[in-house]
Amino acid sequence: METKITIRADAPGVTIDPNIYGQFVEHLGRGVYEGIWVGEHSKIPNVRGIRSDVVAALRKIRVPLVRWPGGCFAELYHWHDGVGPRDQRPRGINAAWNDEPETNAFGTNEFMDFVEQIGAKPFLAVNVTSGSPGEAQAWLQYLTGPEESAAGKLRASHGRRQPYQIPFIGIGNETWGCGGNMTAEYYSDIYRQYLAVLRPYSTLIVADANSDDYAWTEKILQKALFRHAEPTPLAYINRSPQIGMMSIHYYTLAGNDWSNKGAAVGFPEREWALAVERAHKMDEIIAKHSAIIDKVDPERRIGLSINEWGTWWTAPKDAPSNLYQQNTLRDAVIAGLTLNIFQNHAERVRMANVAQMVNVLQSMILTRGSQMIVTPTYHVFDLYQVHQSGSLLPAEVTGPDYTFDNVTLPAISASASRDSKGAIHVSIVNLDPNRAARVVTQVQGARARQATGRILTADSMDARPDFDRPDRVMPVPLQGIRVSDRSIDVTVPAKSVVVLELR
Ligand code: AHR
Repeated sequence: METKITIRADAPGVTIDPNIYGQFVEHLGRGVYEGIWVGEHSKIPNVRGIRSDVVAALRKIRVPLVRWPGGCFAELYHWHDGVGPRDQRPRGINAAWNDEPETNAFGTNEFMDFVEQIGAKPFLAVNVTSGSPGEAQAWLQYLTGPEESAAGKLRASHGRRQPYQIPFIGIGNETWGCGGNMTAEYYSDIYRQYLAVLRPYSTLIVADANSDDYAWTEKILQKALFRHAEPTPLAYINRSPQIGMMSIHYYTLAGNDWSNKGAAVGFPEREWALAVERAHKMDEIIAKHSAIIDKVDPERRIGLSINEWGTWWTAPKDAPSNLYQQNTLRDAVIAGLTLNIFQNHAERVRMANVAQMVNVLQSMILTRGSQMIVTPTYHVFDLYQVHQSGSLLPAEVTGPDYTFDNVTLPAISASASRDSKGAIHVSIVNLDPNRAARVVTQVQGARARQATGRILTADSMDARPDFDRPDRVMPVPLQGIRVSDRSIDVTVPAKSVVVLELR
């Protein structure tokens, strides 16, 4: 039986926010040190200490946004340790991650230099557990203050005269867990305190609901939003919303057991099925959190950010650093499925940050000393960049399921958009690791005369590149596309990600 995709070019939806393609960088393992920062005196080619191979790879996929410095690390981080002459910065330990050494060599100005080098925007996570509203406010004054202000003078003395722009601030990280073990009620009060001092600077993002903890979202919206006792003359209060975005953290394991997440490589089909099933649940999680937000914000002013998402496998004993994992074709299929889900919820989902950018969890990039490879997940971000800022086109999919043991899911996931030049892009993921799908796409309201496509697939479920064979899983042109008056007919191989361009 064939799969049918019906695309409604006659019913375009919202613009897909490029920030859905955001990334997350935390001081953890070799995510920052070696992965991004090698220091100015390194033999690894770098610009002001930031490795050039990594910057070039990230520029190519147009990373829109980077969340930093954590994660759990953010809740222990004091920004003033990471500014000023590097040889005078305090050396510490990273208590969030096995007491790894923390040199503070990569601090605020290095991070801002990094995002400027890759052409992205910054998203800062401020410390609400061991920090204070005053410390966060001083950080924002340091970053954004005019050069003549005291904070701006300090920044200029550290080499940066021009103020930075900080479009997004996250108020804490996982405040139900490593971010202070708070109840939703208690955190709501803390949020209101930070709101009072940080509102003038940026869009504020509420700390993250844990997966399907819908009660968290419900309570925060009840408690953190409030009415001012009387009309205020303060312009910034009228201008910026109390809550810019709500947020969720949701990771994919092979199943739901955090003590047995499954291996990154060499796994059986059962773990493939459990992992894609868990990744697929992202759709329900977003829909249910969104329905709660809809009740207080039917006009959809408040966004939803998936502040952390990605695959998290059991680390082997010989992993070279904390939370380092291999990245295979399965990770790429999960990335494609997840990005399709985000896009199809673009009316509420305005941001997402894959965990994490380099050498940690579902990375874009892996390094080994001076060597660097890009992962299958990187290729999906590369293929999907055509959707950034496109108009979402509804895509209805009907077709066979993928079934294994107790897992039953639609085998094909799809999402479509139209870019500013009128080209329609359709991303199609075949979750079935065994069966190819014949996919017939019909476009309502537009005529497609030509179609081209690219595909990412491989023979085995855990196919992956390595440092000696960096090109082992690579996108290639899709062959055999048939375009007729009414439809585009393609064969989408088992376990693959395809992006079509229709003109
Ligand atoms: O991404 C790794 C960790 O996962 C982050 O520090 C934390 O926020 C989450 O639990």
